[in-house]
Amino acid sequence: MAEVGSKSVLFVCLSNICWSPIAVFRKLVTDENVSDNWRIGSGAISTYEVGNPPDYHGQNCMRKHGIPMNHIARQITRENFVTFNYILCMGESNLRDLNRKNNQVKNYKAKIELPGSYDPQKQLIIEDPYYGNDSDFEVVYQQCLRYCKAFLEKTH
Ligand SMILES: *[C@@H]1O[C@H](CO)[C@@H](O)[C@H](O)[C@H]1NC(C)=O
Ligand SMILES: *[C@@H]1O[C@H](CO)[C@@H](O)[C@H](O)[C@H]1NC(C)=O
Repeated sequence: MAEVGSKSVLFVCLSNICWSPIAVFRKLVTDENVSDNWRIGSGAISTYEVGNPPDYHGQNCMRKHGIPMNHIARQITRENFVTFNYILCMGESNLRDLNRKNNQVKNYKAKIELPGSYDPQKQLIIEDPYYGNDSDFEVVYQQCLRYCKAFLEKTH
């Protein structure tokens, strides 16, 4: 058994309003009865949407799947690189930005990865649904579900 709160993951995208893997992952760890082991966070690279709720398409999608989502966008902090085990980000430009920020932080421990690297279907990149409709968000949801499951299994 893992210690309470001993594992941690931070989900990061450009503005922290579109992407809902955090909600998906919370649901998964709850269903698996391992939520006590996990500290889960999310954040944005940019400040564009700080303080805003998630995109309404994303809210629709989570509602459709019966997943509670209570979230306000925030920007990641330097401390996040020290306190989280894993930082999973949405695309290659996010990955570059995170690695650059990471290099400015001493004693970082976070492993920065594309969640797609855990995808059994090897779909490395998740399309940003920012301009998408409900069905685009559904595609992203299914992708998130797949790789969050794989990530959870790998880090058991
Ligand atoms: C989680 O706990 C509930 C209630 O104790 C139980 O019904 C369920 O089978 C458990 N799920 C798993 C995956 O262990
Ligand atoms: C969503 O947009 C795509 C094109 O990006 C289109 O093919 C699809 O029919 C649209 N779906 C809905 C439900 O509007």
